[in-house]
Amino acid sequence: MSGKVEIMETVLRDGQQSQIATRMPIADMLPILDKMDAAGYHALEVWGGATFDSCIRYLNEDPWERLRTIRKHVPHTKLQMLLRGQNLLGYKNYADDVVTAFVKKSVENGIDIIRIFDALNDVRNLKTALDATKAAGGHAQLAICYTTSEFHTIDYFVKLAKQMADMGADSLCIKDMAGILTPQKAYDLVSGIKAEVTIPLEVHTHATAGMAEMTYLKAVEAGADIIDTAISPFAGGTSQPATESTLVALADLGYTTPVDQKLVADIADYFGPIRDRFRDEGGLNPRVKDVQPKSLLYQVPGGMLSNLLAQLKAQGNEDKYLDVLEEVPRVRADLGYPPLVTPLSQMVGTQALMNVLSGERYKLIPNEIKDYVRGMYGRPPVAIAADIQHQIIGDDEVITTRPADLLAPQMPDFEAGAKPYAKSMEDVLMYGLFPEQGRDFLGRREDPFYDVPLETVTVDLD
Ligand code: CO
Repeated sequence: MSGKVEIMETVLRDGQQSQIATRMPIADMLPILDKMDAAGYHALEVWGGATFDSCIRYLNEDPWERLRTIRKHVPHTKLQMLLRGQNLLGYKNYADDVVTAFVKKSVENGIDIIRIFDALNDVRNLKTALDATKAAGGHAQLAICYTTSEFHTIDYFVKLAKQMADMGADSLCIKDMAGILTPQKAYDLVSGIKAEVTIPLEVHTHATAGMAEMTYLKAVEAGADIIDTAISPFAGGTSQPATESTLVALADLGYTTPVDQKLVADIADYFGPIRDRFRDEGGLNPRVKDVQPKSLLYQVPGGMLSNLLAQLKAQGNEDKYLDVLEEVPRVRADLGYPPLVTPLSQMVGTQALMNVLSGERYKLIPNEIKDYVRGMYGRPPVAIAADIQHQIIGDDEVITTRPADLLAPQMPDFEAGAKPYAKSMEDVLMYGLFPEQGRDFLGRREDPFYDVPLETVTVDLD
C-alpha cells in the first residue's frame, strides 16, 4: 500500500460532543492549542454541531469568542465546523438571509472549512449555505448523511455525490453519524464516488458498533483522502477511532501522513487528565466507551440508544426499551427512511416512544413530525405512503418547494428582538438561532441583575 492520508482531529467538536455532551470549556482547550496547530493535521474540527448551543446553554461562554480565541492560537491549521444546512446550528429551517449572514460571520471569525449536511440529503437545503461559504472565501464541504434502506444503494449515494460536486462543493464527506457504515460498504462507496468525482473525499464515522477502524482501512484502500479521528482520551465508543493508533497502523501499512506522532502523543497526555476529571465528576458516562453492536441491528445511532433509555428510565418504563427500539426502524420506514441525524433522530425517537407508550401507533404525534410530513423539512428520501400521510396530517397540503422558499427574511426581526442586549451582528445571530438561551446569555453578560440559571440536559446527535 502507498499514498497519502490526511487526518482531521475531532476532539474539540465531535469527540467531546459524543462523549461528554459537548461540555468542554475553552479553558480545557487553550493550553494545548499551539501543539495541535503544530501537529500537521489536515484540519481541526472546533465549532458547529452542538458546540454553539452548548456554550450559551450550559457553559456561559460566548461561542463566537471561543472561535476567535481558537483562531488566535491556531494560526496555521485549518479550522473546521459542522453546519446543519438550512438549519444552521439549530433544529428548523431559517430564511436565506439568516443562513447567509451566519455563514459569513463564521468565516469572518475564523472558520476555514464548513462541512454542510442536510438531514434528508435534500440538496436544495444545502445550496444557500454552499453559496454563502464560497462567497465568504471559505471551503465548502458537502456531506452525504449515510444511512441504510433498500433505497439507499451505492448507486444512489454516488449519484448524490456527483450532484454535490456539480453544485460546486470544494470537497465531499461521507458522514456516518451512526457508526453503521460497514468496511465493505465503505470500500464500495468510496470507490464508486472516487470514480465519478475528482474533488477530495473525507470519511467520517463513529466507533459505536466496533467497526470503525476496519471501515477506515477499507475507505483508505479505496482512495479516501481524509479520515476523521479523535485523540485517544476522547476516542472509541460513541466517538471516532483514536488518532494515535490510526497513525501507527497507517504508517505500518506504508501510507504517509503529515502528522507528527510525537506531538500527537503529547496532545493525548494533555487530554488524559481532562477525560479523567469529566469521568470523576460524572460528565463522562463510562457507557459511552462501550461497544454497541445493537446499533447495527436497529440501525440506530449509539447516542440515540442511550437517550431513549434515559427517557424511559425517567418515566419508569425501562421494560419498554426493546419495544421502542424495534419501533424506531418501523417509524423510519413509515416516514420515508430519513437518516437518523439531528433533528430527525430526535423526532423519529420521540414518535417511536409515543407509539409504544400510548399503546396505539400515531395516536399522539409531535408537531415536528406533522411538519416533516407536510414537507417542511424537505423531501424525504422515499415518498411517504398515502395512508401514513393521511393518518399523520389528514388532508393537509404537502409542499414540494424548497421549504426556505416560504420564509420571508428574518434578520430584521432578529435585530429588533436582540436589541436590548446585542452589541454586534454575532449577538443578533445568537439570539436569532436560540431566542431563549441567546437572550439569557446576553442578559447575563450585559445586565448584572439578570438572574436565569444555566440548563443541564442534552440530546444532539451529529
Ligand atoms: Co459525527
